[in-house]
Amino acid sequence: MSIANLNGGQQLAVKYFIVAVVLFVAQILFGMLSGIQYLAPDFLQGVLSFNVTRTVHINAMIVWMLYGFIGSVYWLLEEESEIEVVGLKLGNLGFWVLTSAVAVVVLVFLFVQTGPGDDFTRWFVNEGREYIEAPRWADIGIVICMLIFFYNVAATFSKGKWSGIAGVLTLDLVALAGIYLAGMFYTTNISVDQYWWWWVIHLWVEATWEVLVACLMAWGLMKTLGVSRKIVTTWLYIEVALMFGSGILGIGHHYFWIGTPEYWFSIGGLFSALEPIPLVAMVVHAVYDSGVRHTKGNNNPALAWFITHAFGNFFGAGVWGFMHTLPQINLYTHGTQWSASHGHLAFFGAYATIIIAMFYIAAQYVRGQSSFGPALLGNGWKWKWALGLLNFGVVGMTVALLISGYEQSFIERAVGGSTWMGYFAAQIHPWFVQGMQWRMIFGLITSAGIVLLVWDLLTIGKHPAVEKSGQAQTAS
Ligand code: HEM
Ligand code: HEM
Ligand SMILES: [Fe+2]
Repeated sequence: MSIANLNGGQQLAVKYFIVAVVLFVAQILFGMLSGIQYLAPDFLQGVLSFNVTRTVHINAMIVWMLYGFIGSVYWLLEEESEIEVVGLKLGNLGFWVLTSAVAVVVLVFLFVQTGPGDDFTRWFVNEGREYIEAPRWADIGIVICMLIFFYNVAATFSKGKWSGIAGVLTLDLVALAGIYLAGMFYTTNISVDQYWWWWVIHLWVEATWEVLVACLMAWGLMKTLGVSRKIVTTWLYIEVALMFGSGILGIGHHYFWIGTPEYWFSIGGLFSALEPIPLVAMVVHAVYDSGVRHTKGNNNPALAWFITHAFGNFFGAGVWGFMHTLPQINLYTHGTQWSASHGHLAFFGAYATIIIAMFYIAAQYVRGQSSFGPALLGNGWKWKWALGLLNFGVVGMTVALLISGYEQSFIERAVGGSTWMGYFAAQIHPWFVQGMQWRMIFGLITSAGIVLLVWDLLTIGKHPAVEKSGQAQTAS
């Protein structure tokens, strides 16, 4: 009942998962602080101002998700390739280097909050591109750690066995790591800077990350439900083709108002409108497979989170993204809380969920359990409540932000004509302020969910005897 049960790749994965959970908690904490500052702008002003709390909130999110992905891939690597990870020592070194770098970057964010925007700042303090604000030295460190990770994945599959999942995963990692470089160009022109910056942000979340989670979903459905490899691989190819077909040119939905040529209106509008289609395919895939098996899985918490992922991805990215993706609509909604509403539901629904599913698969093996299925459900209230509170909290925040966003689009943009007057009228309007208040209430619910989730991950399956007798009681 320890990590000694695990193979080398899985032991490394557990390290990544632990840091991921810590950063997830930090994300929520700093999200709450930034939310409070919307209502009480003086709160912690000068100590931890909004620009700092917000930076930590969203960077912690990106980093914990990357940790979750790297951990997930190391988790399945040995099983999928049928051999040991070729460079496990190097992989461990990469983990420690990356984790030290992340810790230093966060400390610098917290301690050096103001200063000149010069070369020194760019190299050592903050690079200033939203979501990937890490300074240049850390960028280079991250690239090196990603290369180690990539080497381990590609070399292990090459030496062992290739599968459809392995092939898609490896090619996807080339793209994922390569695109990161686009966020490192130096340019003094803000339009050019934004142009490339979106290559990282959009092409990560709407192309390469989606493909990565499609691989995890394919593997997870085999693992938790015993779906056949043929079926999941076929779905995977279809989803990937649709995803890249729509997502790559869909980047145009960020090129409407930043000074790029007008043809991006049509390209961005058309291709991004097609983006929900692969997400529908993913829901069908997951629901169909679990329906066919009557959801008799061996790890119910993981399966529940996989299904939540399919729906969260569809609603958060597909529906909430589609709502504001046509230029005619985006003209009014651009950069309002509408975007934040979509951002929250999409990142949570598409990515937090599936990584949590992987945490539960890891927990099952760490605890040496053959199953978190019916046998262990007698006492399984914590994971259900964590699932419920987290989803209720995030959906509540999403709706609160959407109402504020509607109000901004209407008062600031449509009525106020995008003027400063319109901006301030919108910011003090009761509908806006109330949306911000409801966001905090649902934020608290989300926070309760994460506390419970961490508690459950630390304890689930630890006392199988008690759990089994609980099951026996319910059965009798
Ligand atoms: C899981 C996938 C996705 C994630 C995580 C995601 C996340 C985000 C985030 C965080 C933003 C705000 C960016 C900023 O700081 O300015 C954003 C913007 C946007 N997203 Fe997504 N998104 C996803 C998929 C989609 C899809 C599929 C569509 C369209 C169908 C879409 C349409 C948009 C549009 C149009 C904007 C620009 C909003 C504006 O003008 O302010 N997104 N997305
Ligand atoms: C406890 C709950 C949370 C609170 C109170 C909260 C609060 C906030 C605040 C105040 C902002 C800044 C918005 C702005 O600049 O207008 C923000 C941004 C953001 N948060 Fe959260 N957050 C929470 C949880 C989450 C979760 C669970 C996720 C996703 C997994 C998330 C993802 C994001 C993203 C992607 C942005 C950037 C959105 C954009 O630029 O449009 N947050 N959050
Ligand atoms: Fe996008």
